[in-house]
Amino acid sequence: MFLNTLLCFILFFLRQSLAASTTEPNEFTFNGFTGANLTLDGFASITSTGLLMLTNTSKEKVGHAFHPSPLYFKNLTNGTVFSFSTTFVFGIVSEDPVFSSFGLAFVISRTKDFSGATGSQYLGLFNLSNNGNSTNHVFAVELDTILNPEFQDINDNHVGIDINSLRSNWSYTAGYYADETSMYPTNLSLISRKAMQVWVEYDGEEMMLNVTLAPVPMAKPRKPLLSETIDLSSVFLDPMFVGFSSSTGPATAFHCVLGWSFKMNGAAEDLNYSLLPLLPSIKSTAKSKVLEIVLPIASAALVVIMIAMVVYFVRWRNKYAEDLEDWELEYGPHRFSYKDLFKATKGFKDKELLGIGGFGRVYKGVLPSSKLEVAVKKVSHESRQGLREFIAEVVTIGSLRHRNLVQLLGYCRRKGELLLVYDFMSNGSLDKFLYDQSKPTLDWATRFRIIKGVASGLLYLHEDCEQIVIHRDIKASNVLLDNEFNGRLGDFGLAKLYDHGADPQTTNIVGTMGYLAPELARTGKATTITDVFAFGTFMLEVACGRRPVESAGEDESLVLVDLVVKNWRRGTVVAIRDPRLGEEYVAEEMELVLKLGLLCSHPLPMARPSMRQVVQYLQGDATLPELSPTYLSISVVELLHNDGFDDFMSYPSSSTMTAASVVSGGR
Ligand SMILES: *[C@@H]1O[C@H](CO)[C@@H](O)[C@H](O)[C@H]1NC(C)=O
Ligand SMILES: *[C@@H]1O[C@H](CO)[C@@H](O)[C@H](O)[C@H]1NC(C)=O
Ligand SMILES: *[C@@H]1O[C@H](CO)[C@@H](O)[C@H](O)[C@H]1NC(C)=O
Ligand SMILES: *[C@@H]1O[C@H](CO)[C@@H](O)[C@H](O)[C@H]1NC(C)=O
Ligand SMILES: *[C@@H]1O[C@H](CO)[C@@H](O)[C@H](O)[C@H]1NC(C)=O
Ligand SMILES: *[C@@H]1O[C@H](CO)[C@@H](O)[C@H](O)[C@H]1NC(C)=O
Ligand SMILES: *[C@@H]1O[C@H](CO)[C@@H](O)[C@H](O)[C@H]1NC(C)=O
Ligand SMILES: *[C@@H]1O[C@H](CO)[C@@H](O)[C@H](O)[C@H]1NC(C)=O
Ligand SMILES: *[C@@H]1O[C@H](CO)[C@@H](O)[C@H](O)[C@H]1NC(C)=O
Ligand SMILES: *[C@@H]1O[C@H](CO)[C@@H](O)[C@H](O)[C@H]1NC(C)=O
Repeated sequence: MFLNTLLCFILFFLRQSLAASTTEPNEFTFNGFTGANLTLDGFASITSTGLLMLTNTSKEKVGHAFHPSPLYFKNLTNGTVFSFSTTFVFGIVSEDPVFSSFGLAFVISRTKDFSGATGSQYLGLFNLSNNGNSTNHVFAVELDTILNPEFQDINDNHVGIDINSLRSNWSYTAGYYADETSMYPTNLSLISRKAMQVWVEYDGEEMMLNVTLAPVPMAKPRKPLLSETIDLSSVFLDPMFVGFSSSTGPATAFHCVLGWSFKMNGAAEDLNYSLLPLLPSIKSTAKSKVLEIVLPIASAALVVIMIAMVVYFVRWRNKYAEDLEDWELEYGPHRFSYKDLFKATKGFKDKELLGIGGFGRVYKGVLPSSKLEVAVKKVSHESRQGLREFIAEVVTIGSLRHRNLVQLLGYCRRKGELLLVYDFMSNGSLDKFLYDQSKPTLDWATRFRIIKGVASGLLYLHEDCEQIVIHRDIKASNVLLDNEFNGRLGDFGLAKLYDHGADPQTTNIVGTMGYLAPELARTGKATTITDVFAFGTFMLEVACGRRPVESAGEDESLVLVDLVVKNWRRGTVVAIRDPRLGEEYVAEEMELVLKLGLLCSHPLPMARPSMRQVVQYLQGDATLPELSPTYLSISVVELLHNDGFDDFMSYPSSSTMTAASVVSGGR
C-alpha cells in the first residue's frame, strides 16, 4: 500500500520534472504557415503563400490541422486545467456568396486522429454514434455557417462552444461588441469572405472561458462575445492536441487559417497582420462555359461526366426523403427555410389563412428577419416528375420583375409540399371586389386601369421576358390588388407543375371552366393564344361584374359571352355592364373593353389578337376593328364540331358547365 503510493509519487514527480525540462512547447506563433510543422490530414494543405487551407472547393470533404506535439494542460498536483489563450485569424471564402459550407472549428482534443469522424454537419469532429459521448474528450469553438436543426443551431451564422458534441453548450450569433457599453453586438457574417480574428481565453482559476470575435484588423474587443463559466478538468485529459477542423458539404468553401498563436498560462502573442497571407479570391468561373468548350473536345470527359451524373442521380433519388437536393443549391437566394416560413405564418395557423386557391392554401406571413409581409402558398406535389424543371422555372419566374405581376420571392420544399413565397398584396384578389357585396364597388377608372395593367403584365410574360411564360390560369381570382389598387397577375406558370410530362391522352387540362379556349380542350396544348382567350373572358368579367358561367336554375346556365354577344347584336353592348357602376363610366372605354373581350374570346384561335395588339387597343394606340357579323355564327360552331369538338363533352369537370356551351352560345 505504502509502496504503491510512494511509486505513484515518484512517477508523478518524474512526470512533473520531465514536463518542465523537456522542450515541449507550450507556446507558439504562426504569422502565416510557411514551413510550419503541422499535422495535416484530409483536404488540409498549406499553400505556397503560407495559407493553412483546411478545405478547398471539393465537395463533402474534411480537413484537419493540428500542432504536431501534445500539450499538457493540467496541474497534476490538483488536476485543474491551466489558463491558456489562443488567437487565430481565419477566413471563409465560399463559392456561393449566400450559401456556404459547414464552417470550421478550433479544437482541443485527446487525439489528432479523426479518421472515424464524419464531415458535413459533423465538421469532421464526430459521427452519428459518438456525438455527445463524454469519452470523446473534445473541446471546440465552432464557427458554424449552416443551421442544423438536429444540433439545435440558433442560425446559420454563429459561434458556439462545444463539449464532446456538436450541440453547442453555448452559442451566439457571430459578432462583436464595438465597445464595453454596447448592449448588443455588431453582427458579422462568417461567410463574408473577409478575414476575422478569434480569441479563445480560459482562466483556469476562475474557470472562465471567453470567446471573442472581431473583423481584421481590429484590436481585441474588450467585451467577449461569449463569456462562460466552465470546468474543463473532466473534458481535458493529459496531454491534448490543439488544432482546427473543417468540412464542406454539397456547397463548398475555402476554410482558411491565416495565422495562429497559442500560449499556456499567459496571453497568446499578438499576430502581425502585415505578415499574414492573403485569402484566396473566388474567380467567377462560368461552369457552363467551361463545359461547352470541354465537351466537344474530350469525349472521354463526357463518359466521366455521365458516370458522375448516374452517381449523382442515384444519390439524388436516395435523398428523396430530404427536401433539399444538390441541384437546388444554386437557388440558395431563392430558397426559404421552412422554419422561417413556419414562424412567419405562426405555424400555418388557420387565422393566417388568406384563401384556398386552385393550387393550395395561401397564408399570410411576416418574415422574421426582414419583417417583410408575404403570402405563402402551400402546393402539394405528389409527383416528382418535372419538379426540378419546375423549380428551375419558379426561380426564373422569381427573377421576373413587372409592376403588374405578383413578385415571387422564393420557395421551400418539405414533405411533398412546395411552398411558394410571394409579395403580399394588401387588397386581396379582384374577384372579391366584383362579387362580394360587402366590399365597396370598384369604379370604372380603377377597373379600366386594372385591365390595362393585367394586359401589360401578360404581354411581359408572353413577349418581353427572356423566355415565354404562359400563364394558363387567368381569371379575376388570380388578379391581386396592391395597396394602390393596381392589378397584379399572380400564380403565373404554376399550372405547369400539374400537366408536366403527363400522358397527352389523359391530360387534365389546367385552368378554370369558362376561361378555357376550345382548342385547349382539344389539343391539351396551352399557348399564348389560349391565354388571350382567358384574358378576353376576364375583361368581360370585370366590365360586367359577372362570372363567366353562372348557374340559373337546374341544368341551366348563363354564359357571360352569350349575354355580351346578344347585347352586341342588339347594338346595346354597354347595357350588359355591371349595374353597380350606374352611369359612372366612360362609354367608349366600356365598349372597347367589351368588344375586345369578345374578340379575345373568339372560338377560332387565329381570329384572336396577340397581347401586344390587345395592349395597343387598350391604350388607344390602335383602333379595334369592327367585329365580323359572322362572329360565333352557326357555321363556325359546326366547323368546330367537325373538328372533333365533341371531345369536349367528355371533358372532366366539376363545373356545371362544359366549355362547349361557352362556344355554342351566341347563335
Ligand atoms: C482540393 O485539394 C485536393 C488535395 O489537396 C486536390 O486533389 C483537389 O483537386 C483540390 N480540389 C479543388 C477543387 O481544388
Ligand atoms: C514535426 O514535429 C514532429 C513532432 O514534434 C516531429 O516528430 C517531426 O520531426 C517534425 N518534422 C519536421 C519536419 O520538423
Ligand atoms: C499546481 O498546483 C499547486 C497546488 O495548488 C501549486 O502549488 C502549483 O504552483 C501549481 N503548478 C503550476 C505549474 O501552476
Ligand atoms: C465514430 O467515431 C469513433 C471515433 O473516431 C470511431 O471509433 C467509430 O468507429 C466511428 N463510428 C462510425 C459508425 O463511424
Ligand atoms: C460512449 O463511447 C464509449 C466508448 O466508445 C462506449 O463504450 C459507450 O457506450 C458510449 N456511450 C454512449 C451513451 O453511446
Ligand atoms: C455542456 O457540457 C457538459 C460538459 O461540461 C455536458 O455534459 C453537457 O451535456 C453539455 N450540455 C449541452 C446542452 O450540450
Ligand atoms: C444580428 O443577427 C441576429 C440573428 O440573425 C438578428 O436577430 C439581429 O437582429 C441582428 N442584428 C442586427 C443589428 O442586424
Ligand atoms: C473574460 O471576460 C470577462 C468579462 O469581460 C473578464 O472580466 C475576464 O477577465 C475575461 N477572462 C479572460 C480569461 O479573458
Ligand atoms: C489548483 O491549483 C491552482 C494553481 O495554484 C489553483 O489556482 C486552484 O485553485 C487549485 N484548485 C483546487 C481545486 O485546489
Ligand atoms: C510586423 O512585421 C513587419 C515585417 O516583418 C515588421 O516590420 C513589423 O515590425 C512587425 N510588427 C510588429 C508589431 O511586430
